[in-house]
Amino acid sequence: MAENLKGRNLLTLLDFTPKEIHYLLDLSAILKANKRAGIYGDTLKRKNIALIFEKPSTRTRTAFTVACVDEGAHPEYLGKNDIQLGKKETVKDTARVLGRVFDGIEFRGFKHDTVVQLGKYAGVPVWNGLTDTFHPTQILADFLTVKENFGHLKGIRFAYLGDGRNNMANSLMIGAAKMGMDFRIVAPDGMYPDTALIDTAKKIAAETDAKLTFTAGVADGVKDCDVLYTDVWASMGEEDKIPERIRLLKPYQVNINVVNATGNDEVIFLHCLPAFHNGETDMARKFPDIKEVSEDVFESKHAKVFDQAENRMHTIKAVMVATLGNQ
Ligand code: CP
Ligand code: NVA
Repeated sequence: MAENLKGRNLLTLLDFTPKEIHYLLDLSAILKANKRAGIYGDTLKRKNIALIFEKPSTRTRTAFTVACVDEGAHPEYLGKNDIQLGKKETVKDTARVLGRVFDGIEFRGFKHDTVVQLGKYAGVPVWNGLTDTFHPTQILADFLTVKENFGHLKGIRFAYLGDGRNNMANSLMIGAAKMGMDFRIVAPDGMYPDTALIDTAKKIAAETDAKLTFTAGVADGVKDCDVLYTDVWASMGEEDKIPERIRLLKPYQVNINVVNATGNDEVIFLHCLPAFHNGETDMARKFPDIKEVSEDVFESKHAKVFDQAENRMHTIKAVMVATLGNQ
């Protein structure tokens, strides 16, 4: 059933109802099948899309760019040193200028308030491509991947291990609550989302029959899980905290013991990527113990991380088509 999302921002999944999220996932699956069949749309023809990036990106940047081109839009990359934002010009002024020039704006950066201000003043749809607090387009790709593997989201037993109060933990918790899932954050005591956000998630969960668990115990937390999920132990901008995070989060590494502790041979492993798993990157060479997922799990039959990465493009396309496209 088509939902009318025209003109809407996507700042967090709190902005959308469960029905609207289902609609975006269904639209993503259609757009994915169409692309596989060589069918492209022109729903974004002549639209100009600003892609603002204060932080680096592989998946989000390329997903927005290719999704724009597939649907006939022009993407314009605006890196942190390319525009005046934050240095000589306020967010509010930048929003009003870019809103006059562009038809839609993606923002990736540090403060969540920046994307909120863009959304308030631009007058065109604004999409959050990751802030310190939320990463909503990632969750759509994650949930599309879960649906591709299990056919549904409701009741799915989903354990997130690691830094339990970063942008991914916050966003997965809200998404899981909206979709009625059995969601567990498995992290050291005190590394859970802000109390106010947990309260919001609990209120949503009461309406959707979602179950939310916060535990420091790995074996209990992952028992019977359908999905194991982890993210980097130190997010972009937190590089100085790496030694401390390794010490705190090493017991939460997703390795074969954790997979076995689910008791489910069909469990899938997801990671938003980039991931530390084999020590072969510059940062991993500097910090040999930084490894939130072991190589054998990352390369196992359980891992669906590259389907998930591809799904960034289909889901981001669906968000732009639904909020801006001439369908
Ligand atoms: N998952 C994700 O957002 O990846 P990038 O940082 O490469 O965009
Ligand atoms: N928590 C990670 C997610 C990367 C997609 C970060 O913010 O760096």
